Amino acid sequence: MRIDVLTLFPEMFASPLGFSIVKRAQQRGSVNIVLSNIRDFAKDSYKKVDDKPYGGGAGMVLMCQPVFDCLESVQKQDSQPGRVILLTPQGKKFDQPLAKELAAEERLILIAGHYEGFDERIRLGTGALEVSIGDYVLSGGELPAMVIIDAVVRLLPDALGDEDSAANDSFSDGLLEYPQYTRPEEFKGMKVPPVLLSGNHKEIENWRKQQALEKTKKQRPDLLK
Ligand code: ADE
Repeated sequence: MRIDVLTLFPEMFASPLGFSIVKRAQQRGSVNIVLSNIRDFAKDSYKKVDDKPYGGGAGMVLMCQPVFDCLESVQKQDSQPGRVILLTPQGKKFDQPLAKELAAEERLILIAGHYEGFDERIRLGTGALEVSIGDYVLSGGELPAMVIIDAVVRLLPDALGDEDSAANDSFSDGLLEYPQYTRPEEFKGMKVPPVLLSGNHKEIENWRKQQALEKTKKQRPDLLK
């Protein structure tokens, strides 16, 4: 998979992309992440990419021209046109089913805006899917883009060491994940549930299903509806 990110702050991505599963997935060639700086496509000598909103109001608005030129440039770099995604608090809420859907694409192009917002013609003219990572406002689309990359890349074949790890994740079957324990058997008086030490795989599976259901009922009853 190829993932392009169009951003004004490519440096922000170095650390989240440089560790753990996402780093390994890149090293193995499961994903190629390409960062492009929207500012490189500014036309004037000040490298201006934003301007005051028509009609007045606070803040600055990301201009069309640098974004469209940047998008056109990255689209030309690969034969796959790519699924274009615009990060915005007004978008469709990102969740595990959407992560799975995006993980099946050959190419994603994430556009991370900054400032007060984008010129509306960026939404209209790119035909992008607008995606939000939650009902709160961040200072830009960079963190949301990193969240999406992380959630998508760990679903790619070969990204996780253990084949089964993603299958047991919270949300993968509509439930939260069951509790996990590792050594020691007792810590500060808290004991590992005996069933997990029993070696009885059928009972362990039943216990985990039951726990996942109870945890979901308690923490996220909305998921059961
Ligand atoms: N940009 C600012 N806030 C955002 C959010 N919650 N999701 C996606 N993009 C954003």
